Amino acid sequence: MKPLAQGAEAVIYLSGSKIRKERIKKNYRLPQIDSKLRKERTKKEASILHKLQRAGVNVPQLTKISEFELEMEFLAGTKLRDYLDKTANAEVCRLAGIETAKVHKCGIFHGDLTTSNIILVGNVLYLIDFGLGDYSLRVEDFAVDLHIFKECLASKHNAIWEECWQSFLAGYKSVDEKKFSDVTKRLRVVEARGRYKHIG
Ligand SMILES: Nc1ncnc2c1ncn2[C@@H]1O[C@H](COP(=O)(O)OP(=O)(O)O)[C@@H](O)[C@H]1O
Ligand SMILES: [Mg+2]
Repeated sequence: MKPLAQGAEAVIYLSGSKIRKERIKKNYRLPQIDSKLRKERTKKEASILHKLQRAGVNVPQLTKISEFELEMEFLAGTKLRDYLDKTANAEVCRLAGIETAKVHKCGIFHGDLTTSNIILVGNVLYLIDFGLGDYSLRVEDFAVDLHIFKECLASKHNAIWEECWQSFLAGYKSVDEKKFSDVTKRLRVVEARGRYKHIG
């Protein structure tokens, strides 16, 4: 079967209205460690998707879980990355802010929050790829999600990044004002650290 996408960690196959996300072998790891890691990541991603789904976050519905593989609903839409390139409609980032705040409210961070891991189906925005996500209550982890998203906007959507970022923040704030204040405060620390690292 021809893969739909091939990332660093997984290969995605499309069959009908479902996709299969299969975590691939890494030959640079010892086989036992490799297999253990892939199993753990698969289980973690499934558990996160399950919890988010129950909490009413827009994520693809899981349909099957096996050792190294998840089967889920295929979201027949457009990646936010391509949508922004095509339309320059920054306002849609408000929806990304809303879903992200809902994820954080569940005590989960995404870990790779870029415009390639967000899919728009009509006017509903879904978050995908929780392969680097985890459970956390640390404000630092939530701030890093925002940092990654902001960096992605600045590098991949440079012409409209500021409008996108402001829309995202407005959406996030509308869900959880307290967390918004804590997380954006922490974001300034994360950013200061980033700048320091570039100099050093
Ligand atoms: N549920 C889904 N519906 C539609 N496309 C998907 C879905 N899950 C993944 N994809 C597509 O496959 C790509 C890679 O999947 P992803 O979960 O992001 O894995 P990786 O960890 O390799 O980035 C995504 O960027 C997206 O294009
Ligand atoms: Mg991805």
